[in-house]
Amino acid sequence: MKTIRLRAHPTLSSRDLETAVSLLLGGQLVAIPTETVYGLAADLFQPAAIQKIFTTKGRPADNPLIAHISSMRQLERIAERPHPLLLKMAERFWPGPLTLIFERKETVPPIVSAHLPTIAVRMPSHPCARQLIHSIDSPLAAPSANLSGRPSPTSAADVLEDFDGAIPAIIDGGPCAFGIESTVIGMIDDQFVLLRPGAIDRAAIENEIKITLIDPPRRGPILSPGMKYRHYAPKAKIRLVDSADRESSSATDGSVYVLEDLGAQNLYSHLRNADRLGYSEIVICLNDSIRQSEALMNRLQRACGEVHG
Ligand code: TXA
Ligand code: MG
Repeated sequence: MKTIRLRAHPTLSSRDLETAVSLLLGGQLVAIPTETVYGLAADLFQPAAIQKIFTTKGRPADNPLIAHISSMRQLERIAERPHPLLLKMAERFWPGPLTLIFERKETVPPIVSAHLPTIAVRMPSHPCARQLIHSIDSPLAAPSANLSGRPSPTSAADVLEDFDGAIPAIIDGGPCAFGIESTVIGMIDDQFVLLRPGAIDRAAIENEIKITLIDPPRRGPILSPGMKYRHYAPKAKIRLVDSADRESSSATDGSVYVLEDLGAQNLYSHLRNADRLGYSEIVICLNDSIRQSEALMNRLQRACGEVHG
């Protein structure tokens, strides 16, 4: 299969929009830019198309997908009895990189949620993602557009590295603004749980909504199946060092990729770059600003192979 490349500046021309819309309505996959990372999108209401996402990514069948919407009317079509505080979070942070877990409406194909009774939803802010969702007038299910286990893609070139020839089309919207995935929030009874730290800080949500976000319980059922897999891993081995120890850690023959200017925006592109250049080891120098970023520390620990649950 030849992968068509469409360009968004920042939205699609009407001709390219027509191409993307007809692929999606025809049950095909299209990789799309979002403000966090690129997504591998399919029409949420076509189970056969959703199955293609799992097959193409090599994604475990028990790892549910996020529904991407462009209006609150679309939320009503997929979520049942939304909690008022979840709606308050939506009002404050959407469109943007916050994913909220709702009770799933029966009309949503169960495969989207890996048969969980819930559905993860976010309203992206990227103009092209919004244009597409609005045009097909249906939510798009979209996980990150990487082969399962590989670092998430933050450019069209990253997506093509994993899927050139395997998907019908990609929309190139340039580099992603955040470069790290959305924050995911769910509920246990009446408490709000930070299921995945991400582009929006825990403190911003807590202060704005006046709630406390608890961490997922270490025992009992896994609330966010995606978090049990070793994600975000490059081929190279990763070593985390203190920036003060940088000299001793990199006094080698240049076979080590040393990363000193790490931020959420460039983490994944550095990991992919090190693999592209064939490095076998990546040394990441930790400083206070990295240590203070819960999302970044979470991805680094996962990239090192530390998986809980
Ligand atoms: O920024 C993002 O969220 C990107 C862009 C493309 O929107 N998407 C993304 O999707 O990161 P993915 O599939 O790579 O990660 C989805 C995460 C997984 O950890 C999954 O387990 C969790 O969301 N999730 C999805 N549905 C859930 C549900 N019903 N209950 C709990 N966790 C859920
Ligand atoms: Mg992912």
